[in-house]
Amino acid sequence: MFISGGWNDYEVLDTGGGAKLERWGAVTLERPDPQAIWPPARPDQWRSADAAYIRSDAGGGHWEFRRAIPDRWEMRYGALRFYVRPTGFKHTGLFPEQAANWDWMSELIRAASRPISVLNLFAYTGGATLACAAAGATVTHVDAAKGMTQWARANYALSGLPNMNARWIVDDALAFVEREIRRGRSYDAILMDPPSYGRGPGGEVWKIERDVYRLVEACAKLMSGEPLFFLINSYTTGLAPSVLSNVLSRALSGIPGIAHAQELALPVSSGGVLPCGSSGRWTAKGAAE
Ligand SMILES: C[S@@+](CC[C@H](N)C(=O)[O-])C[C@H]1O[C@@H](n2cnc3c(N)ncnc32)[C@H](O)[C@@H]1O
Repeated sequence: MFISGGWNDYEVLDTGGGAKLERWGAVTLERPDPQAIWPPARPDQWRSADAAYIRSDAGGGHWEFRRAIPDRWEMRYGALRFYVRPTGFKHTGLFPEQAANWDWMSELIRAASRPISVLNLFAYTGGATLACAAAGATVTHVDAAKGMTQWARANYALSGLPNMNARWIVDDALAFVEREIRRGRSYDAILMDPPSYGRGPGGEVWKIERDVYRLVEACAKLMSGEPLFFLINSYTTGLAPSVLSNVLSRALSGIPGIAHAQELALPVSSGGVLPCGSSGRWTAKGAAE
């Protein structure tokens, strides 16, 4: 299991009853989590939530604020800094479980001791972009949503990272990759964290089960002559980790390297771990891991 245990500013306090209680800096939030099918270990502690996201039967939901909280606040992960705030669809602008992947990529980039170019697809608010740039890589950040890209740029500036290490693209992931192939571009490392279902800026529909293999296969054509890593993350319930390692092994079969995949999880202070999807990691032959 890939466990993201390195946080000081973030903590899963308790889980259960279809929900999770989390500390985000000085703010405690209660959010739905359908996988938490067991009863809470510390039921009394849930009264400490400053706000809770209440799901509605018709889908979606709303935030219920029990105490005044800032419109947005900062979170730190090592030298990385992020703005977070309660947004629609229960999100906060940060996926703390990704920290284990940020650490893995950063270690590979530093150990490579050469300039590394990274392509980050479905890049959201830039967690992986910040981590790879802080490790010295140049990162091309691609997301379909202009608002998310602006948020990523604000996180990047907040973290004091050098402007020249990042390129910001608002585009459909597949359309951008196909254009880069035509341009003859290449990258040493590629990562993607696609939603189960999404839309590109031109309305392009993304369905992970239908489209992920084709996207990884296209990305294989962008891998440079000195590849380093390839990461696929999935939140899609039902897509087992071995699906991701099979996709990587098959689509990158022409490039010497090895794939492995595991569940991604967060430690829970009241005991156990919270499952948060899975990650498939491919490392080029000879890359120090
Ligand atoms: C689950 S989030 C990714 C989380 C992110 N990797 C992280 O850990 O911070 C999915 C992102 O995919 C973007 N997206 C959805 N469909 C897309 C598409 N067809 N092309 C590019 N980005 C897309 C959304 O705007 C959203 O920012």
